[in-house]
Amino acid sequence: MKDKIIKLFKDNPDSYLSGEALSKSLGISRAAIWKYINTLKEDGYEFDSSTKIGYKLIYCPDIVTYSEIDEFLKTKYIGRTYLHHHTITSTNDKSKELAKQNPINGCVVISEEQSSGRGRLGRNWTSPKSKGLWFSITLTPNIPPSDASKITLIGAAAVYLALKDLGLETLIKWPNDIILNSKKVSGILTEMSGELNAVNYIIMGIGVNANIDLYDFPSDILQTATSLKVETGSIINRKKLLAAILNNFEILYDDFINNNNFKTTLNISREASILIGKDVQCINRGTVSYGKALDIDDNGELIVDFGENGGIKQIISGEVSIRGLLGYVPS
Ligand code: BTN
Repeated sequence: MKDKIIKLFKDNPDSYLSGEALSKSLGISRAAIWKYINTLKEDGYEFDSSTKIGYKLIYCPDIVTYSEIDEFLKTKYIGRTYLHHHTITSTNDKSKELAKQNPINGCVVISEEQSSGRGRLGRNWTSPKSKGLWFSITLTPNIPPSDASKITLIGAAAVYLALKDLGLETLIKWPNDIILNSKKVSGILTEMSGELNAVNYIIMGIGVNANIDLYDFPSDILQTATSLKVETGSIINRKKLLAAILNNFEILYDDFINNNNFKTTLNISREASILIGKDVQCINRGTVSYGKALDIDDNGELIVDFGENGGIKQIISGEVSIRGLLGYVPS
């Protein structure tokens, strides 16, 4: 209902709407309208009000509710089921809980803050209130489980394109990191429920460090993590960025699912790769191997040349961490 009320105000930006008019168009009592207006004020909305003529919306807060992103969203189904939280443990965990009951293709769960945000390989993911985008998309593709890792590359390509839409040139550190000025600004955690031959559902969690300040990061990740705000010196519009990610994701994902076309994603993964042509270390359960990243093959696997003894191998994203020889990214 809050979304409907905001939509009415946004559709009539210059008008005062009376309690009576709102109550008529929404089919609820004036007392209920008054309560909703008060909860909207708690969310940070500001109204100019007059007992005679009603309310006029004068300020929308920086929150990523459906009413705030709808005007930028061009998708058919990604984000059309949309659950916004102020705080949550992890949007991946919430999405999984919901998907176990009834997985809804394209459902987005987003939270202003996560108390136990998770990264790959059991790491924590810093998710301070309203300073980033912390969200998960539930997907129910009819693909073999072996193709699920491609969804991560599609997600990374969508984040890359969305940042480009905002004028930011980033690089992709295969398979799931988005890099700006040699540090990570975004990561993806894809989790799957499936059987031997079929995927039940995939939860793709995306974290974007939009407006995080350096003091928000734990000191041990300051070497590798940064935010768009820190790097550009400007506040990022989270609403536009989120909608751009979802818009780009739907185009690439649809092309893969409906046309079996993974080419656009592959081209982006290759052209924006920070790894291809560089010396890298592959860390697999504590074991380090040194090689040179040659390419990303048509299945989205990283091809690494481990030299005379190791030979050329395909790396599947799952359990492996790729680093530069001297640091987080190759120089
Ligand atoms: C990584 O780079 O290690 C993956 C980070 C993924 C973080 C996002 S934030 C939204 C979603 N919920 C989580 O708990 N994790 C993902």
